[in-house]
Amino acid sequence: MKEINVAVTGGAGQIAYSLLPRLVSGETFGVDTKVNLRLIEIPQVVDKLEGTIMELIDCGFEQTGSLLATADIKEGVKDAHWVLLVGSIPRGIVVDGKKIEERSDLLKINGGIFTDQGEAIGKLAQEDAKILVVGNPANTNALIGRTKSENPAQSWFAMTALDANRAKAQLAEKAGAEISSVTNMTVWGNHSPTMYPDPYNAQIDGVSAVEVINDLDWVENEYLPLVQQRGKAVIDARGASSAASAANAAIDTVKAVDNKTEEGDWFSAAVPSDGSYGIPEDLIFGFPLTSNGQGKIDIVQGIELNDFAQAKIKITTDELLSEKEAVKDLLD
Ligand code: NAD
Ligand code: LMR
Repeated sequence: MKEINVAVTGGAGQIAYSLLPRLVSGETFGVDTKVNLRLIEIPQVVDKLEGTIMELIDCGFEQTGSLLATADIKEGVKDAHWVLLVGSIPRGIVVDGKKIEERSDLLKINGGIFTDQGEAIGKLAQEDAKILVVGNPANTNALIGRTKSENPAQSWFAMTALDANRAKAQLAEKAGAEISSVTNMTVWGNHSPTMYPDPYNAQIDGVSAVEVINDLDWVENEYLPLVQQRGKAVIDARGASSAASAANAAIDTVKAVDNKTEEGDWFSAAVPSDGSYGIPEDLIFGFPLTSNGQGKIDIVQGIELNDFAQAKIKITTDELLSEKEAVKDLLD
């Protein structure tokens, strides 16, 4: 069996509880790969990870390798092939007497976590390590972590796959189509209410979703806010932010990066901009991506963006630029 090292921060949190068994079961990295898992937590709760480790052992998966719990980010990310940065504060909870309502509230609280983590990853993880940021605000946290890593050979991603899955599900339901028939979904920009889950270039059985649904008012005035505000709707309904679907999207992202993309399709994640589509360089921006399955990820070029799309993409770009400005002290 091959072996890989996977580090996960926030190992005692609710997303991790859904995520961890699926990382060591053969589902994510393949049945021929043993997964050495390093769980990283803050010192106050690191002991709880012993219970999680007991449960992972009790699952009895043959792909489960060594299991480590640590509060030391350096120990956790050393030689990691994949690092999943989940640890951070979610919306909906009270911090210092104030309820955290918007992702912007999380900027200052969570941003600081990603400076030390970025430095440790840059120095200690594998030279070709892949890093997926799930903790919010995911794009700007990834910007901080990547900047601090000072290691451009490593590949940083921020998660927009949950938004893409939500967007596909809504289009499939409206069209009365199977979810598997919805392809080519891009979530442009930020994982926030300004995201643009592109219905024009998404396809249902190979035809533009907008054409298939044939209800522009629904697409522009109902579908978009539904997807953009889905995270809040889950928090309001569940009293806690989405966890099973977030873990599922993290697994989808790892698999999409590690495996060759199906011909003609693409997947959605936020990566450092190379200037494509006029997006300022290095901003961590949701793009349509393909993988060759050997570590090469490309931004799909030549996608047509109509005036509606361009206006939406400008809004989410401006938001990311203002987030970048708000954390500029952490980027020095
Ligand atoms: P949670 O509060 O249940 O768990 C977070 C865990 O992170 C806690 O156990 C906490 O102790 C730990 N943690 C905090 N700081 C840490 C640090 N410096 N190092 C290691 N661990 C640390 O939260 P959750 O529901 O699991 O959500 C985690 C994050 O994911 C939140 O920021 C949430 O908003 C975000 N999220 C993102 C998406 C997405 O699509 N990108 C979707 C859902 C949730
Ligand atoms: C989500 O989209 O479900 C998460 O980012 C949680 C949130 O705060 O919306």
